[in-house]
Amino acid sequence: MPQSQPPELAPRASELREQLLHHAHRYHVLDAPEIPDAEYDRLFQELQAIEEAQPELRTPDSPTQRVLGAVLAGLTPVRHTVPMLSIATERDTGEASARRFDARIRRALALGDADAPVEYSAELKFDGLAINLRYERGVLVQAATRGDGETGEDVTHNIRTIGQIPLRLKWLALPSAREMGGSEDAPEVLEVRGEIFMRRDHFERMNEQQRAAGLKTFVNPRNAAAGMVRQLDSKVTASRRLSFYAYGLGDVRGWELPETHSATLDALAKMGVPVNGERAVVRGADGLVGFHAQIGEKRAALPFDIDGVVYKIDARALQQQLGFKSREPRWALAHKYPAQEQTTVVRDIDVQVGRTGKLTPVAKLEPVFVGGTTVSNATLHNEDETRRKDVRVGDTVIVRRAGDVIPEVASVVLERRPADAGEPFDLFKRLGGKCPVCGSAIAREEGEVDWRCSGGLFCAAQRKEAILHFAGRRAMDIEGLGDKLVEQLVEGGTVRTLPDLYGLTADQLAGLDRMAAKSAKNLVDALDKSKRTTLPRFLFALGIRHVGEATAKDLARHFGSLDRIIDASEPQLLEVTDVGMVVAQSIRLFFEQAHNREVVGELRRLGIRWEESDGTADHTPKPLAGKTFVLTGALPNLNREEAKERIEAAGGKVAGSVSKNTDYLVAGEEAGSKLDKAREFGIALLDEAGLEALLAS
Ligand code: IVH
Repeated sequence: MPQSQPPELAPRASELREQLLHHAHRYHVLDAPEIPDAEYDRLFQELQAIEEAQPELRTPDSPTQRVLGAVLAGLTPVRHTVPMLSIATERDTGEASARRFDARIRRALALGDADAPVEYSAELKFDGLAINLRYERGVLVQAATRGDGETGEDVTHNIRTIGQIPLRLKWLALPSAREMGGSEDAPEVLEVRGEIFMRRDHFERMNEQQRAAGLKTFVNPRNAAAGMVRQLDSKVTASRRLSFYAYGLGDVRGWELPETHSATLDALAKMGVPVNGERAVVRGADGLVGFHAQIGEKRAALPFDIDGVVYKIDARALQQQLGFKSREPRWALAHKYPAQEQTTVVRDIDVQVGRTGKLTPVAKLEPVFVGGTTVSNATLHNEDETRRKDVRVGDTVIVRRAGDVIPEVASVVLERRPADAGEPFDLFKRLGGKCPVCGSAIAREEGEVDWRCSGGLFCAAQRKEAILHFAGRRAMDIEGLGDKLVEQLVEGGTVRTLPDLYGLTADQLAGLDRMAAKSAKNLVDALDKSKRTTLPRFLFALGIRHVGEATAKDLARHFGSLDRIIDASEPQLLEVTDVGMVVAQSIRLFFEQAHNREVVGELRRLGIRWEESDGTADHTPKPLAGKTFVLTGALPNLNREEAKERIEAAGGKVAGSVSKNTDYLVAGEEAGSKLDKAREFGIALLDEAGLEALLAS
C-alpha cells in the first residue's frame, strides 16, 4: 500500500499567519480587535499545531515566534532595561493543569515524594495592560507600556493622571528601610511592574455616557483602558477612571530584594503601591487547585475583569534556579477561566419590554458558552447603539458576559457578514409602532435614547411595577401591598389590572405564601381605606410618564376635576404651571389609549373617590403662598413627608436645595451643609415650632 501524502498544510499555515498578524495589529496597535481573544487563541493554536507537525513551515516571522505588539507613531519608544516577559498560559480551565504545573516544577527542582510541597504565590491575572513604572530615588520618572517586550511606549503623561499610582514611594514608611536592604534613601532605581485596568462599573458608566451622547462605545474594559493609556492627550485619560495593581519588579538597583515574591509585594504595598489583596501563599498542587476554585467562585463579584489566576514559585532562589525558557519564566503559570467573550451568530433581533415600559432590542443568538454559562440572548441596549454597531440578523458578533452584567453584543465581525444579512435595525418598523406585549402605541421622546410603551398600567410587562407604584405611600397608600405579594398576585394571574386589586377577598389572600388570616384581613381593610383619596394622589398613582407628585398637584389645582384633565387638549395642558411640551404630550398619549380610560372608569365605579372643585376657586387659606421652603435634618415630631404635605397644603413650595430663592430653611437635628448654605445666603431659619407657628398664622 503506497504511503499516503501528508495533507497540504502550507497554504493554511500562511493564511493563518496573515490572519494572526492582522488581528494582532488590530489588537495591539489600533486597540480595535475584530475577534475575541478566545478566537485568536484558536487560530494561534491551529498554526502552532501545524508548525509542530511540519516544522519546515515555521517561518521566522510567524506570530508564534515572537511577542507581538508595535510602537505607535506619536508616542516615544522606550527600551526596557529588563525585558518585559510574558507568562506560560494554561487555557484548560480544569484542575489538572494546576497539578501538571506543580509536577513539572517538582521534576525541574528534582524534588522527590518525601520533599515538602513547593510554596507558590497565587495571584489574580488582571485583564488590562502591562505597565512599567520607573522610580529613581523614589520618584516616578517614567511609565512605559510593554510593547513587544523589548521596547514599549512612553506614556508617563497619562499614567501621572491616575491617582492610585504614587508619584513618590513612601520609602521611609517601611518598618526599616535599612533592614529591607539599601540605605535610608530610596533605591537608585526601582521599576514596579503591574497592570493598568478599568473597573467594570467605571467601564459601564463610561459606555453609558458614550451611549447617551450618541458616541461609539468600547468593546470591553481592557480595550477602554488600553485606549486611555495610549492617548496622546492626557486630559482624556484623566477624565476616565483607570486603576492599577502591581505584580512584580523590573530593573532594581540599590535595593536588596526580599527573599520571596510575596514579601516583595508586601513591601511594595508598604511603599504605597497598590497591591491587590486577593492573593495567597499556597502549598503544592492542592493549594493551587484550591486557589483557582476559590477565585473562580468570586470572579463574578470582583469589581474588575480577570481572565485567570497566576501561580509563581514564591522563593526567589528557586525562581533563579529554574530560570527562563525563551520569553517565559519556568517558575510561573497563568491558569485561565472560561472566556468572557465569544463569537456567535445573530438569529433574530427581538424587542423586550422592561418593567417601566422601556423597549430594549435584544439579539437572539446561536447559543454560545461565555463567561461560564450558555447565552442565547444579548442586549443591544437601544436603537441608536444597535445602528452604530450595525448589528443585523445573520451577523457574526462578539458577545460579552462579565461578572453579573447582562450579556451584551460588544461588536460585529463585519468581515463575516453574509450576503443575505438583514436590513439595518429600525425599532419602530420592527414593531409596527406597537408594544409587542400590549399593543399600545410606542413613543420616543425628543432627546431620549429609548423607545417606550405607552401602555403603563395596562401593559402586562409593566403590571408589577404599575401596581407597586399605584399602592405606594405617596400614591394610593395601600399598606401591606408589597413587592413579594404583588409578585405572587401578578404571577398567579389573580391581578391583571388595577381594578382587580379591589376585588381581592380575605380568603383569596389568606391562601397566598406568607399570608396569615390577620394580614389578609388587614390588606382588605387597607384597600378599602385607600378608596378615599385625593385627586393629586390618584393622578400620581396612575403612573403617567413625567407626572410626578408635584405635577399631579399642579394639574389637580388647575383643572379641579379628573374629567377636565382627561379632556384637556395639549394647549390647555400647557397652561398649567410647570407643564411643558413633553409632559403635555405624555398626558395626552396616556388618556388617548382607550384601555387607560377604561381602567380609570372602572376604578371610579369601584368606589375610588375624592373631593373635586370647579378648578377655579380654592377656598382653603393659603398663608404660605409664594414661599419656598427647604427641609433639612430630622424634626422632632413631623417626618419629611408630613412637613412637606403641611407646607404645600398651606400654599408653600418645598424645594430640594437651598438657593437665593429660598425663603425658609426648616432645620432639625443634624442639619448639614444646607444649614451652612442658608446661613451664607442669610435665609430665615425655622425649627419645627417655628414652622407650626407659621402654618397657624
Ligand atoms: S507576572 C515574568 N502577574 O499577564 C512574569 N502578570 O503574559 C511577568 N498579568 O503581560 C508577568 N496579572 O500584563 C503577572 N498577577 C500577574 C498578572 C500578570 C496580569 C498580565 C501581564 C502580562 C501577562 C502575562
